[in-house]
Amino acid sequence: MTHLPGLLDTEAIRKDFPILDRRVHDGKTLVYLDNAATSQTPRQVIDALDEYYEQHNANVHRGVHVLAEEATALYEGARDKVAEFINAPSRDEVIFTKNASESLNLVANMLGWADEPYRVDHETEIVITEMEHHSNIVPWQLLAQRTGAKLRWFGLTDDGRLDLSDLEEVINEKTKIVSFVLVSNILGTQNPVEAIVRRAQEVGALVCIDASQAAPHMPMDVQALQADFVAFTGHKMCGPTGIGVLWGRQELLEDLPPFLGGGEMIETVSMHSSTYAPAPHKFEAGTPPVAQAVGLGAAIDYLNSIGMDRILAHEHALTEYAMKRLLEVPDLRVIGPATAEDRGAAISFTLGDIHPHDVGQVLDEQGIAVRVGHHCARPVCLRYGIPATTRASFYLYSTPAEIDALVDGLEHVRNFFG
Ligand code: ALA
Repeated sequence: MTHLPGLLDTEAIRKDFPILDRRVHDGKTLVYLDNAATSQTPRQVIDALDEYYEQHNANVHRGVHVLAEEATALYEGARDKVAEFINAPSRDEVIFTKNASESLNLVANMLGWADEPYRVDHETEIVITEMEHHSNIVPWQLLAQRTGAKLRWFGLTDDGRLDLSDLEEVINEKTKIVSFVLVSNILGTQNPVEAIVRRAQEVGALVCIDASQAAPHMPMDVQALQADFVAFTGHKMCGPTGIGVLWGRQELLEDLPPFLGGGEMIETVSMHSSTYAPAPHKFEAGTPPVAQAVGLGAAIDYLNSIGMDRILAHEHALTEYAMKRLLEVPDLRVIGPATAEDRGAAISFTLGDIHPHDVGQVLDEQGIAVRVGHHCARPVCLRYGIPATTRASFYLYSTPAEIDALVDGLEHVRNFFG
């Protein structure tokens, strides 16, 4: 068995994840390498969800009965856990959404309806990058179309990094918001936050960070990032689907208008007008995803019990090993940084001229789950002149043996397609 320094005790960890024992396609061992899309769920989170539904299920904030009080305490307790996990100065800065896409759309819509000094209009600019997930492109395109603002972006270098050579020109006095990904879901690139934030602060622009591929994999400190908003999702960090987070600076959340209106986000309502509850409730209209928040809280407890530093070290060791092994495969081209430096544990590649969908299908027949396609980041594929990639992505339970299985699987793909 390959041993690498920094690896976690995956034998013990894997026992927490029942699904990893699954056999697929007539008894083949499951090799799950699609963690950037959705991570698997440990028994501890499944138990927390079961217990919630078996013992505490009720609506939150509006009942006087015991179950409503318990559900409210659990929901708000999950908010405390998230706040601590990301080192938020205040729990009131944590807004629960349904996923990172909703979090990013929420920021775009807060700004879309804002007055000065946050107002976005035809005299202002919005900055993103060419490596964004569609969820950090489309909301800004919509905002630009609706307000007349100009959408600008940073391009990419040939080796999959942000091209910041025009940093001072792209982020300028007209820029209202800069929104970019911390770790790319397709390229794996980890972006230089400090340089971008410094420039945005120089011109008084707000900064929004998509941390969907970062929060599950490394210690998060929103204060150190110095951003104004940070978005991520629960289902990539051992939590359930249907729960996302938007962290925002308190003063902004107080100033900016709500997006969705409805129950629970108000202070008073008359037939003529309404006033709003303080943040975070101002941004949580309707019955929130209570069970899912409780599940996310349990996922955070689970990740903390292992340690985010140790998870980061584990994935770094695996990425180094995977990069070395993958680059041994003839005709394999890594799309993105080809070393483990400043990158996450998602590796995209092409294999000669075999279409990634064929690669994915033949790997699947061997029990190996990867994602193929444009990974909701189509501009990246256009930039590198490819239709799609195959992507392997690792997490705290991934092992060197699974990387070996992937490399053997790719040899089989090559032989299959001659
Ligand atoms: N954003 C997810 C991915 O990259 C779905 O696969």
